[in-house]
Amino acid sequence: MTFLELCKKRYSCRKYSDKLLEKEKLDQILAAAQAAPSAHNQQPWKIYVLQGKEWMEKIDGVTHCRYGAGTVLAFAYSKDEEWVNNREEILYPSGQIDVSIMATQAILQAAELDVDSTWVMDFDFEGCKKVLGLPENEQMVLLMPLGYAAEDCQPAPVHVVRKPLDAFVSYL
Ligand SMILES: Cc1cc2nc3c(=O)[nH]c(=O)nc-3n(C[C@H](O)[C@H](O)[C@H](O)COP(=O)(O)O)c2cc1C
Repeated sequence: MTFLELCKKRYSCRKYSDKLLEKEKLDQILAAAQAAPSAHNQQPWKIYVLQGKEWMEKIDGVTHCRYGAGTVLAFAYSKDEEWVNNREEILYPSGQIDVSIMATQAILQAAELDVDSTWVMDFDFEGCKKVLGLPENEQMVLLMPLGYAAEDCQPAPVHVVRKPLDAFVSYL
């Protein structure tokens, strides 16, 4: 499979089966995340691996978007460790960008391993931080349910809907 085929194969899974994610696959997904670039190589990221009934119930308390997955990764970053572009009048911090790149690498690695995933931003950020017991200086970015799609799970119709290249690419 080419990289482009892999990118198109990945979709947001919204119904997981009971089959649990194997440790070796989880390790590989985490290694792909680790290999991500970050501003100034500061790697301000944190990943919390959540598994088991109790954690899933806690996650259900902060989002309706777990979709029955048995593993959820919570991605955050340390505000003390992110790089900040302070050459501009408005400061541009890198934490969310760094974490987004690593999470993208994780979902694509998952897809290569035939593991399904969802990028979830629709959750109670402060509630989640509390449930996970994160320190004040850590900022949540996303939750990522991982596992195997239920037999009747289909990509949403929007999965194949993308703006044409000429709508957002300009050759200057
Ligand atoms: C930043 C971001 C936030 C998202 N938040 C959610 C979410 O909270 N719940 C959800 O079901 N999907 C969420 N998605 C998935 C998008 O809805 C999905 O990627 C988009 O509709 C395209 O579909 P596809 O991923 O199947 O190709 C999110 C995606 C991104 C990149």
